[in-house]
Amino acid sequence: MYDAPLQSSATAARVRRAAIFHDFHPGEDSFRDALVAGLSRAQKAIPCRFLYDARGSALFDAICELPEYYPTRTELRILDDNAVEIATVVGPDAQLIELGSGSSRKVRILLDALETPASYVPIDISREHLLAAANAIAGDYPEVLVEAVCADYGQAFDLPQNLYGGRRTGFYPGSTIGNLEPLEAQAFLARWARRLGPGALMLIGVDLKKCASIIQPAYDDAAGVTQDFSRNLLVRANRELGADFDPEAFRHVARYDPASGQVGIHLLSERDQTARIGERAFTFAAGEPVHVENSYKYSIEGFSALARAAGYAPTEVWTDEADLFSVHLLRVL
Ligand code: AVI
Repeated sequence: MYDAPLQSSATAARVRRAAIFHDFHPGEDSFRDALVAGLSRAQKAIPCRFLYDARGSALFDAICELPEYYPTRTELRILDDNAVEIATVVGPDAQLIELGSGSSRKVRILLDALETPASYVPIDISREHLLAAANAIAGDYPEVLVEAVCADYGQAFDLPQNLYGGRRTGFYPGSTIGNLEPLEAQAFLARWARRLGPGALMLIGVDLKKCASIIQPAYDDAAGVTQDFSRNLLVRANRELGADFDPEAFRHVARYDPASGQVGIHLLSERDQTARIGERAFTFAAGEPVHVENSYKYSIEGFSALARAAGYAPTEVWTDEADLFSVHLLRVL
């Protein structure tokens, strides 16, 4: 653990300007091994966690600003519109723990609304991004203890021991839960229920099932940013692994299945082709799909049932006027 310098011992308890930093980075996950394993399967796939290198993260930020991609702006509006009510339920002196905190943008809405929030624990795998965002929060909210944790929040690690304050509240915005299979999502939430402890809260953003004419363009935009985001997996393989993919020869396809709520995202080979990763060669038939990501949408009842099965009592849910997106407040049983 690295303790960034605090202001002075006399004022440390109430006024801070820098985050405390805990490093549980799991070490480099081998992109090469995962890519070779995924492309060796009968139904080729590349794990979506590799979408987020520096270029992929910048492309995702650009997606969030697209006119077709409604989740980010809709969730921000829901949080803004209901911040006072959320703050009332959470209560004073909250300990906020954010899963996948990124730039810590959305949490500011909560920190502004909560009554004397005591501590904020942003958790993210990207060390540089995390440190910059955590120190910015520590500077802007000097009375909040900021303990940044660099970790894969899906894996086991210990939360900081010296957290103090009122209710523990997990914060998991963005509908990132939708990138897991529903059973994985349930197991993930159950692990976090155990980690947060009985009586704690979880505030989570969940994208809603709706007509395909809204969902489909959100994952296949006119400007082609989402296509670039998917193809970035191949661009990254060329750059980092010396592979020789022709990214332009793979077409991004997103399909929404209203029954399951799944948006399945694939790269389709435009022609018969071969790509090499070092000494390994992979052939792709014309039209052959490579799976890159799922993004599940839920009904409010469907997600509440999943949360119950994971050990939570659904407490409140907020939506926008058009029922595009939902923010659920769950209590750990
Ligand atoms: C990060 N995650 C919630 C995004 C989503 O909407 O599933 C990832 C994404 N993929 C393509 N567009 C956005």
